[in-house]
Amino acid sequence: MRKVALILAVLITLALVVGFYPSYVEKPVKDGAGPMAIRLDPGLPAPEYHSPLDWWQTHHMDVVNQGDLTQADCLYCHEPATSCNNCHHYVGVVEIGE
Ligand code: HEC
Ligand code: HEC
Repeated sequence: MRKVALILAVLITLALVVGFYPSYVEKPVKDGAGPMAIRLDPGLPAPEYHSPLDWWQTHHMDVVNQGDLTQADCLYCHEPATSCNNCHHYVGVVEIGE
């Protein structure tokens, strides 16, 4: 009888662990899920200087900080709340203003 109770307790614990295990961690991913997702009007073309995109993701700050482009140029396409600051909050970088 005690064995059955023990097996039941183990099974319930397992079910709870599996059931509540976080299925994903939210990240600022383009077209991802949740409030951190990066969203842009799909009708907008990506400018040439975004290519390759993984270079741009890690170097856009240099381009803006060097003054080659200004933030105002970016906001022509980007909404700060949905495609700059959700990522900046995640990585802990200054907010981009309107
Ligand atoms: C002409 C419109 C346009 C302008 C201007 C523009 N962007 Fe973009 N940006 C896009 C589009 C469209 C994408 C998505 C590209 C893709 O998914 O291939 C993008 C993607 C990005 C990404 C990558 C997001 C991700 O995680 O994939 C960053 C960072 C970014 N832009 C920053 C900037 C900055 C900084 C500027 C100003 C210097 C700027 N953009 C100017 C349209 C624009
Ligand atoms: C996918 C993530 C992501 C997106 C989207 C993004 N950034 Fe960034 N940005 C970063 C990271 C990471 C850094 C910091 C890098 C470092 O400190 O080395 C940064 C830094 C910057 C900096 C330099 C800040 C400083 O204190 O020197 C500027 C300016 C900037 N981003 C502009 C923009 C603009 C404008 C947009 C929207 C058009 C944008 N970023 C969208 C990830 C992103």
